[in-house]
Amino acid sequence: MRVEFFLLMWSVLCLSPCLSTQDGLSPNVTVSDLTFKNMDFAMDLYRKISGYHDNNIFFSPLCLSTVFTALSLGARGATRDQILKGLNLHLLQQPGNNRIIPELFQQLQRNITQDNALKFQQSMGLFVGHKFVVENEFINHIQGFFGADINTVDFRDAEGSLAAVNEYVMKKTDNKVKQMVSSIEPLTQLMLVDTIFFKGAWELPFNPNNTEKDRFYIDKYNIIQVPMMFKEDEFYNTHDKELKVKVLRLPYVGGSAMLIILPNADVDYTEVDEEITATRFLKWIKALRETKLEVRLPKFKMGQSYAMQKILPSLGITDVFGDNANLTGLSKAPGLQVSEVLHKAVIEVDERGTVAAAATTVGITAYSLPTQFIVNRPFFFLIYHESTNSLMFMGRVIDPSKY
Ligand SMILES: *[C@@H]1O[C@H](CO)[C@@H](O)[C@H](O)[C@H]1NC(C)=O
Ligand SMILES: *[C@@H]1O[C@H](CO)[C@@H](O)[C@H](O)[C@H]1NC(C)=O
Ligand SMILES: *[C@@H]1O[C@H](CO)[C@@H](O)[C@H](O)[C@H]1NC(C)=O
Ligand SMILES: *[C@@H]1O[C@H](CO)[C@@H](O)[C@H](O)[C@H]1NC(C)=O
Repeated sequence: MRVEFFLLMWSVLCLSPCLSTQDGLSPNVTVSDLTFKNMDFAMDLYRKISGYHDNNIFFSPLCLSTVFTALSLGARGATRDQILKGLNLHLLQQPGNNRIIPELFQQLQRNITQDNALKFQQSMGLFVGHKFVVENEFINHIQGFFGADINTVDFRDAEGSLAAVNEYVMKKTDNKVKQMVSSIEPLTQLMLVDTIFFKGAWELPFNPNNTEKDRFYIDKYNIIQVPMMFKEDEFYNTHDKELKVKVLRLPYVGGSAMLIILPNADVDYTEVDEEITATRFLKWIKALRETKLEVRLPKFKMGQSYAMQKILPSLGITDVFGDNANLTGLSKAPGLQVSEVLHKAVIEVDERGTVAAAATTVGITAYSLPTQFIVNRPFFFLIYHESTNSLMFMGRVIDPSKY
C-alpha cells in the first residue's frame, strides 16, 4: 500500500581548468533559506516548462538544483555565477566561501532522510572517460558533499559505456528505470547521473472499493472518464479567495505531504500558473485548517522527461552549454561543456497507504456536513518535506489519463 515516485536525471558533460575552493567561516544562512530560494527556482522553472506546452508537467526541482550545485563546484567565473543565479542561490553565497551552498544541501539531505519512515534516496554518479583527468579536488568535493560515485568508463566502447550507465540507474532506482539512456554521443567525456527515488504511503489511504469511474473536465469541450478515488475524513485544507484556488494537504507517512492546488471551476489554470510562489506556498501552509471533507482525486500515473539544456538557458544558465563554458574546476582539459541534461520523473498516485496509519482516523464531528473537494479538472500539486518545507516534486495534471 503505497504511492511511488521516482525520478532521475542525467547530464552529459563534454568537459575542461580551475581555482581552489576556499574554506570559509561558518555560514549564517540556514536550510530554510535554501528551501525558500529553491522553491522560487522551482516556480520559475515550472513557468518556463509550462510556456512550452499545455500538457502534464512533473519534475523534481530539488534534484535539479542538487545536480547543478554539484556541477557549480567545478565551474568558474561567469559559468558558475550563472548557475547559482539561475538556481536562485546566488544570494546565499559568501565571498571566499564556496562550501556554504553544498553544505546546506548536505544538511538538507540529512534532514530529509533522518526520518527513516520516508524513503527518499538521492544519489549522484559521475561517469568519466577513461582517458579523462578530473581534478581530485572536484572528486573529493562531490564525494564529500553529495556522496557521488565516480566511475571510469571507456566511451569509445559505445555498448559497454551504455550498459554501465543504465546498470547504475537501474540499481539506483530499484530496477524502476531499466533503459534510461538509449545511446551515448561518441564525443562524451563525462556524464553526470542523478537519481532521486521517493516512496510514500498515504497516511490516510483511499479504499479501492470506493474508486469509481467519473468525469474529469480537461476543459469545456474535453471531458474524459477517469478512475476517481474517494475518501471521507478530516483533512487539512484552505481556500485562497484572492487567487481563487482551494488547497488540500494529503500527508504521507514519514514527514512529507502532497499539496493539491485546485483552481475554482470558473478559473483558468493558466492564470494560477503565474501566481504560484514560495511566499504563497508558505501562506497556504499556515492557513491550512482541519475539516471534515469528502475528497475525490483521480488515480493517475505519469512520466515526464525534459531536455533541460533547452530550458535552463531561459533562466540565464547559458555558458555551461557552450564554448564559453568554464569548467576548469572539474578538469583542466580545454573545451569542456555540458551537452545534454535529461531530467526524467515518474509518479504514480493510487489508493495505497499503510494499514496502521489508516487506523488513526479521528472522530468526525457530529452534525457537520462534509464539504466536498472534487479534483475533476486541471490541478497542481507539490510534494514537500514538511519540517523543512523543502519542495521535492512539482507537477501539473491537465489530463490524468495521459502517461
Ligand atoms: C549573514 O551575515 C551577513 C554579515 O553579518 C549579513 O550581511 C547577511 O545579511 C546575513 N545573511 C543572512 C541570510 O542572514
Ligand atoms: C575560468 O575562470 C577563472 C576564474 O574566473 C579564470 O581565471 C580562467 O582564466 C577561466 N578559464 C577559462 C578557460 O575561461
Ligand atoms: C531539520 O529541520 C527542522 C526544521 O528546520 C529542524 O527543526 C531540525 O532540527 C532539522 N534537523 C536536522 C537534523 O537538521
Ligand atoms: C472491499 O470489498 C471486498 C468485497 O466486498 C471486501 O472483502 C474488502 O474487505 C473491501 N476492502 C476494504 C478495504 O474495505
